[in-house]
Amino acid sequence: MTDPSSLPPAATWGQEILDRLELLASQSEGGPGVTRRLATPEHRAAHDLLAGWMAEAGMSVSLDAAANTVGRYEASEPGAPALMMGSHQDTVRQGGRYDGIMGVVIPLACVKVLHDAGERLPFALEVVAFSDEEGLRFGTGFFGSAAIIGQPRIEDLERLDEEGVSLAQALRDFGLDPEDLPGAARHPEELHGFVEVHIEQGPVLEAEGLPVGIVTDITHGANMNVTLTGVAGHAGTVPMNRRQDALAGAAEGIQAVEARCRASDRLVGTVGKLTVEPGASNVIPGGCGFSIDLRSPDADLLKQAVGDLEARLSEIAATRELGLEIERRYKLPGCPCSPWLMDQLEAAVVAEGIAPRRLFSGAGHDAMALRQIADIGMLFVRCTGGISHNPAEAITSEDAGVAARVLLRFLRSFDPALRGAAS
Ligand code: HGY
Ligand code: MN
Ligand code: MN
Repeated sequence: MTDPSSLPPAATWGQEILDRLELLASQSEGGPGVTRRLATPEHRAAHDLLAGWMAEAGMSVSLDAAANTVGRYEASEPGAPALMMGSHQDTVRQGGRYDGIMGVVIPLACVKVLHDAGERLPFALEVVAFSDEEGLRFGTGFFGSAAIIGQPRIEDLERLDEEGVSLAQALRDFGLDPEDLPGAARHPEELHGFVEVHIEQGPVLEAEGLPVGIVTDITHGANMNVTLTGVAGHAGTVPMNRRQDALAGAAEGIQAVEARCRASDRLVGTVGKLTVEPGASNVIPGGCGFSIDLRSPDADLLKQAVGDLEARLSEIAATRELGLEIERRYKLPGCPCSPWLMDQLEAAVVAEGIAPRRLFSGAGHDAMALRQIADIGMLFVRCTGGISHNPAEAITSEDAGVAARVLLRFLRSFDPALRGAAS
């Protein structure tokens, strides 16, 4: 049994954490970086690894109806409310090794130290690997955390993946019953709060020479799919003034997204997906679809931008005699982190001898969903060049170890009675 107040050295502990993340990164669909989608064989392999490590850390392990892996380390009083931690197991296409899954492995490493020292806390600890936050396979961002907060995405069950498999079938193939989705819901009284450890995915901590930071609030986001319908035609015979070219219309629309977002320094917009029908070099495109992802710390500004872009897209479609369909995929209200959790995270950062830095998150996280049933806190970890959603995503073993030490300090001193106390 190790010393109950032990804190493993950052360098070696961090290397153990990185070794586990490397093992998880190999559970990928191939190609550059890591691609791991909801309810795939790679997800199953990642679940099996995490379940084994959770069991080694003295946790009970379950797979809920939304394919979330849930580990629980019981309190000194069995059945006590839990402090939930975790992040998403899935990735973007050709993503990095740390986005999401690092926020599962680091809390797990802390629970292992507590278990090995025979330590029990006056509250339970839960570590969740959310099944699907990025939404890569079915376009269902936050599918896993939505089920946990009691908002199961029933309406998404018939969405198809690139192979034509429905989400419902994928869950069944994963050994789950989509009918049970509502049963994945957790209730506010079960949780003291939710804390997510995540790479910053931005440049601030690196620029200021800090290994970790405390998140103050998470951006507002809006996600839409646009479909323009024109008339396919012969590239050689249709005069330019008689074309209803869906791709040319989309190009104008994509430019409008960039121009609208460049007009404000508190707005970012991205068109990440584009489909062209029929997709032949000598055919005027009859159909074109593209995604729009908008973010802002200012909800009103975001709403205004959505309205402006929808109006502009209607103008473009009318001028070019194109059909227009805009599917608002999902909007996740940005949210503040809770002062009483920020303060306790900050105290742990200071105890680790690090200058505390509070910062905004331009990325979305499962914590945004959990905020609807629990108070949230987030600890950011420096990443090289702020690069993310890219195979080059990188962290150092030292920073991984420092983050784990900060989190373990936080857990040992966490006081649920301070809930609601303002800083
Ligand atoms: O898009 C995001 O911010 C997150 O990676 N889903
Ligand atoms: Mn991501
Ligand atoms: Mn993420």
